Amino acid sequence: MIILAIETSCDDTGIALIKTDSKKKPKIKVLSNIVSSQIEIHKKYGGVYPFLAKREHERNLPLVFEKAMKQAKNPKIDVVAVTVGPGLEPCLWTGVNFAKKLVKKLKASMIPINHIEAHIYANFLKPKLDFKKVFPAISLIVSGGHTQIILVKTFGDYKVLGETRDDAAGECFDKVARMLGLDYPGGPAIEKKAKEFGRKTSRLGISLPRPMMNQKNYDFSFSGLKTAALYHFKSQKPKVQKSQEYIKSMAHELQQAIIDVLIYKTLKAAKEYNVKSIVLGGGVSANKELRKQFKKNIKKELLNVNCYLPAIKHSTDNALMIALTAYFLLKSKDKRWKKTTVNANLRL
Ligand code: KG4
Ligand code: ZN
Repeated sequence: MIILAIETSCDDTGIALIKTDSKKKPKIKVLSNIVSSQIEIHKKYGGVYPFLAKREHERNLPLVFEKAMKQAKNPKIDVVAVTVGPGLEPCLWTGVNFAKKLVKKLKASMIPINHIEAHIYANFLKPKLDFKKVFPAISLIVSGGHTQIILVKTFGDYKVLGETRDDAAGECFDKVARMLGLDYPGGPAIEKKAKEFGRKTSRLGISLPRPMMNQKNYDFSFSGLKTAALYHFKSQKPKVQKSQEYIKSMAHELQQAIIDVLIYKTLKAAKEYNVKSIVLGGGVSANKELRKQFKKNIKKELLNVNCYLPAIKHSTDNALMIALTAYFLLKSKDKRWKKTTVNANLRL
């Protein structure tokens, strides 16, 4: 079976094609996975503008489709999977309308996919993966639009334990990076500056809060952290604000504050629910320092818990994760996809 997947929920236009097995021989072959990023367009605004993004998706989709099909050697498509939410509504509709036309033309079937769920399954390129060995799991999905701790009882059975009450973790990276005059998206830019922070770099008295870390719930708040960074920045002389020493110290402290809160709450949930694994996903999970510290802490505190980290290139938005989720959905008895439609605020 050939699955073609479309992802247009935010500012990346993605199309992927996978070839899967007959039931007897589990196999997933990635035929193509093309992502066309709109970073250059949104850079000047320091964030994503929905209607600009929609226009770019409309422009990019036919080109990305052609490229993905060519790379996959123009196979016959059986299933079209498409992100229906959560995301930016005008962008979601662009993908869904493109999918509808394809389905009609190719006489294929259409499968609506939840973007957050797909970030979880970006980890599992293995068709033989035994879900009984992975689940129950705690999944942390951290991106530019979402920060959620999810209890995954098994495939298709989710409970959101906590989420951000304001900004997402990625948004906090992006906004503080903009304040420091760094590039968009802010996550990779902050990561780079934080790495340059050496033992000899002065901290310049920067000490940021770890919001909601000691509260009993699994919720987050990153808007307060962003404001604390902003107040500190504003209290400095322009010469200091622009100095590399200040930028590196602020980047390092912000990154560590975000990592501390994410690790503490995720591990706490893993202990409370006695899970078999911790599964990360979303753009922020591409952060190498976060990945390193997650692995180290899980090893130290949760001996028998596995840690799944998506490949760095599959952490950020892509259509392969949409195709994989469709694959597992079709293999399962879960029939909920038969009634899902576009929903910008779709929940798990
Ligand atoms: O999952 P994603 O591609 O799109 C959404 O669904 O939002 O995530 C994008 C977010 C951006 O906020 C970006 O700054 C952040 O992920 N990000 C990172 C890194 N790479 C991307 N944050 C921290 N460190 C990174 N290396
Ligand atoms: Zn995403």
